[in-house]
Amino acid sequence: MCGIIGYIGPKSVVPILVEGLKRLEYRGYDSAGVAVVDENQINIRRVHGKIAALEKSLEESPLDGIYGVGHTRWATHGRPCEENAHPHQDCTGSVVVVHNGIIENYLALKKKLKKEGHTFRTETDTEIIAHLVEKYFKGSLEEAVQRAVQDLDGAYAVAVISSKDPEKIVAAKVGPPIVVGLGKKEFFISSDINPLLSYTQKVVFLEDGEMAVIEPTGANFFDFKGKVLEKKVHHLSWSRLMAEKSGFKHFMLKEIFEQPQVVRDTLKGRVFLDSGKICLDEIGVSPELFKKTERVVIIACGTSYHAGLVGKYLIEAMAQIPVDIEFASEYRYRDFILDKKALVIVISQSGETADSLAALRIIKEMKPLTLSICNAVNSSIARETDGVLYTHAGPEIGVAATKTYSAQIVALALLAMHLAQIKGRIDEKASLALIEELGRIPHKMEKILNQAKSIEDLASKFVSFSHFLYLGRGVSFPVALEGALKLKEISYIHAEAYPGGEMKHGPIALIEENMPTMAIVPRDRVYAKMLSNISEIKARIGYILAVASEDDKEIEERVDKVIPVPSTEPLFTPFLTTLPLQLFAYYIGAMRGADVDQPRNLAKSVTVE
Ligand code: AGP
Repeated sequence: MCGIIGYIGPKSVVPILVEGLKRLEYRGYDSAGVAVVDENQINIRRVHGKIAALEKSLEESPLDGIYGVGHTRWATHGRPCEENAHPHQDCTGSVVVVHNGIIENYLALKKKLKKEGHTFRTETDTEIIAHLVEKYFKGSLEEAVQRAVQDLDGAYAVAVISSKDPEKIVAAKVGPPIVVGLGKKEFFISSDINPLLSYTQKVVFLEDGEMAVIEPTGANFFDFKGKVLEKKVHHLSWSRLMAEKSGFKHFMLKEIFEQPQVVRDTLKGRVFLDSGKICLDEIGVSPELFKKTERVVIIACGTSYHAGLVGKYLIEAMAQIPVDIEFASEYRYRDFILDKKALVIVISQSGETADSLAALRIIKEMKPLTLSICNAVNSSIARETDGVLYTHAGPEIGVAATKTYSAQIVALALLAMHLAQIKGRIDEKASLALIEELGRIPHKMEKILNQAKSIEDLASKFVSFSHFLYLGRGVSFPVALEGALKLKEISYIHAEAYPGGEMKHGPIALIEENMPTMAIVPRDRVYAKMLSNISEIKARIGYILAVASEDDKEIEERVDKVIPVPSTEPLFTPFLTTLPLQLFAYYIGAMRGADVDQPRNLAKSVTVE
């Protein structure tokens, strides 16, 4: 999704904008640009391509300025090309805008503005914002923006500058996020906190219908009617170092290796080994409210959906509460049935996924209890649920979710145990045993990561394959889904995941030498059934890899290659069986020369439908 950065302060603005855009690259984009103001003249530079192309253009023909805005564009309206790259300007070039989102009524507005004499340069929806500000400008940029946004339908996070009202950046938000960074005599506008970590940890999050005006003297906040707002200043716990590669070749690899620590951080302060108790008071929902839960509905997209499917198995097994897991993009358009006895859990690491946020807003009309599991503090979804359980995974820069997935399933395990304890469906001895095993998971993860080289060697044998089948049963089925998604999105190899029991209902027709299978086969109640599936595949000359328990000697006779993982409580196997699949996908993608941290066509946070 698009990224916005704005800076006003004593430093030269171009390097700050370019560095900021680099920290937004992971959001996904196809073009980039900056607009800087020098001696009250706005100069714009845009490229179709990566930020390296923008840097090259700026080296060849430098820009200078004391404030400005930058943008990475993920094309929605108008093909990816230089002329459609942001920033966009009004007729005279004295108003410049960068925008994230979609203006749904832009064609009608464009027609009206053309009739009023405005001339357009691009096919984007964004450009109409610059012309609206031009139309309504009467001396105050913020007032012109306040008036302009009244005409807009849709989602927008905008930053506007004008040479007619210099030394200020005006931002407005409905939908996609905007964060204001409060530095020492320097101020920032950004789509997320990553570009700000180098300069400040003091931030303000805009809510829908709010504006910010940043000037060299400070930041002020208003609603769309011009009413002054007192906004809470948040002090971030994330540091710049957390957003660095720290010697790894890719952010994705670094984040895979961070998972043991992420599990420790997500457990910290929430489990008590002496009593076997879970403490989730921070969620902000009382045990009495949770006690009324008779049904759980989990809403999510992508990897978060896969984590939610693991959560389904955990909550049903531990708390004996029925769980439905739904794709947000489907659920929001369904005639779903909910009541006050339902607990709806929205899982979203970014907390800004458009489908998940839209589904939540529709769901809330039926007044169930709502809870979010988010990684981004104070994100839209986190703010709009009754309670939030944060995953303490730190910033995840790689587009492919890895450590945030592990943090999500830890959070779901804690929630499952919390519900089980509140409902009286688990005794102290069982709770203690589970919590003790959760405490052992980070070390067991480290043992798997120590065999990364052998997984890399194995991956090298599959670089040229075009198809892969992933199989799992029970709580290993969501692991198969997640492993297949990782391979797809990182290496662009077609991969499909099925419940093992589904093979006979069609997929087994795919088995041949060029269709290898990755089977996830921990020792659990469906182990024997998985062995049958493996035999059926072997009988048809299919190549099989298996992620299996390290103490399982039988499996070695049944498959072509075993990736061993430490044994654990059957319900907790996803914490361990997913890691080798992440590494497998990463190494294949890297060996195929794919852009591992920013795979083609993908965005880190899908903030538009
Ligand atoms: C997974 O690797 C992808 N990054 C994508 O599927 C992602 O999980 C999905 O877009 C949901 O994002 P969210 O957790 O921020 O809502």
